[in-house]
Amino acid sequence: VAPVKKICCIGAGYVGGPTCAVIALKCPQIEVTIVDLNKARIDAWNSPDYQLPIYEPGLLEVVRQARGRNLFFSTDVDAAIEAADLIFVSVNTPTKKSGVGAGYAADLAYVESATRRIADVATRSKIVVEKSTVPCRTAESMRTILEANSKPNCRFDILSNPEFLAEGTAIDDLFAPDRVLIGSLQTPEGVAACEALASVYANWVPRERILTVGLWSSELSKLAANAMLAQRISSINSLSALCENTGANVEELAHAMGRDTRIGPKFLRASVGFGGSCFQKDILNLVYISESVHLPEVAAYWRQVVEMNEYQKHRFAKTVVDTLFNTITNKTIAVLGFAFKADTGDTRESPAIALVRSFLLESAKVTIYDPKVPHEQIWLDLSETLPDWPIEKIQKSVTIAPSALEAAKKSEAIVIATEWKEFREIDWKVIYDTMKKPAFVFDGRLILDAPKLREIGFRVKQIGRPEVLA
Ligand code: NAD
Ligand code: UDX
Repeated sequence: VAPVKKICCIGAGYVGGPTCAVIALKCPQIEVTIVDLNKARIDAWNSPDYQLPIYEPGLLEVVRQARGRNLFFSTDVDAAIEAADLIFVSVNTPTKKSGVGAGYAADLAYVESATRRIADVATRSKIVVEKSTVPCRTAESMRTILEANSKPNCRFDILSNPEFLAEGTAIDDLFAPDRVLIGSLQTPEGVAACEALASVYANWVPRERILTVGLWSSELSKLAANAMLAQRISSINSLSALCENTGANVEELAHAMGRDTRIGPKFLRASVGFGGSCFQKDILNLVYISESVHLPEVAAYWRQVVEMNEYQKHRFAKTVVDTLFNTITNKTIAVLGFAFKADTGDTRESPAIALVRSFLLESAKVTIYDPKVPHEQIWLDLSETLPDWPIEKIQKSVTIAPSALEAAKKSEAIVIATEWKEFREIDWKVIYDTMKKPAFVFDGRLILDAPKLREIGFRVKQIGRPEVLA
């Protein structure tokens, strides 16, 4: 198999950027060009002072080492396609907002337009790799489009190579993945293309971690893995509700269950609900596929994982209102954390958005602090979640604070929405002194030392903990 010398990645987002930057770092002999239609994003990747468009621990170092050496960012999509031996398609595949399958199916418009671009531009054979998360059999549609539009003597081999990185730990995940999954057709050409991509990863990933499977298994494995992970969170969150009502402690429960090697300890952290761009979208996609092939019971089973997540967010918001004497009208609630998890500035599907929305609908005032989320993003998310509220109305009720301490000042309650490490390390005594009394803390991430806070004088409620107010 001819070794891959030039790689193009279409889509410079949370996946394309870090993944291909790491490939460039680990494979100095390969030239990697990451392209995007979004000029502002590319400019940020290229910025002389490294103001990268996404925050991800360790990413800056990778880009510093590889950018300009064998890693390039560009808006010239056509030139990068033409030059490449192998093209990653790493564009967004959001849930469809309208039309057939609205609210469930994946919107493949970006995948299709990238695919058409490849067909239009390529004058020689290429390996085309689905990096985006897509419904099962998308590779078939891609092949049909490519073959129907290709120039003579151009052949396209299509691979599925879903990405399993998690935001916040993307660089560690990419440096040492549990596995790299490559799906191909089991034809001689498909197997050869698969070997070409496997050889790229083999520059730093042990061969036994590179799994090669059929195309359709690879595509479905990605949706299945996310569904299974999210299912664990919904399972533990459903139990957290039981704990709060029975005197059990969800952390003790998770620990006891997790010690069973068949269950394992990971992904059993009860929370205010899972967020992120993947879990909900990918499960809804699985639900849609199940319904499309007439398996309503399978669809209902997975839909429940998302419904339990909605319930958990709603339940937590209700706890806040109930505890604050059944009304939060004109009270100030400080929301600490707005990102969907710690160590990222990403807010897609963040449970914090749902919480703030509930508080605003109850006519509360809200102060928000997050160490990494840009302020414009918070305004954008709140405008989207409250489409009937003009931005002036939102800004009358919401203040974005420069620190946790500022957010908490004169507030009635603090709500922990993201598990940022700095929230554990705050001087809670100082915070207490600035707040209205009784001062409440609602820990939606189980990160605080409740007994210590109670000693200071706080009234504390934590997800999945039975303690009634101090
Ligand atoms: P993103 O929105 O951050 O990035 C996608 C980029 O593609 C955008 O910058 C957009 O401008 C660009 N784009 C869209 N159409 C284009 C076109 N035709 N030509 C050039 N550029 C184009 O999305 P993301 O979070 O990186 O996710 C990408 C894919 O990876 C999705 O399918 C997602 O489900 C999957 N995925 C995401 C994660 C994650 O943690 N975010 C993890 C695994 C898999
Ligand atoms: C997820 C998958 O983990 C990753 O493999 C896939 O490639 C993309 O989707 P991501 O969404 O970036 O990654 O982060 P993840 O760590 O999975 O967290 C998702 C959400 O679940 C976050 O809101 C997180 O706070 C929450 N979570 C996670 C819990 O509530 N409890 C847990 O035990 C773990």
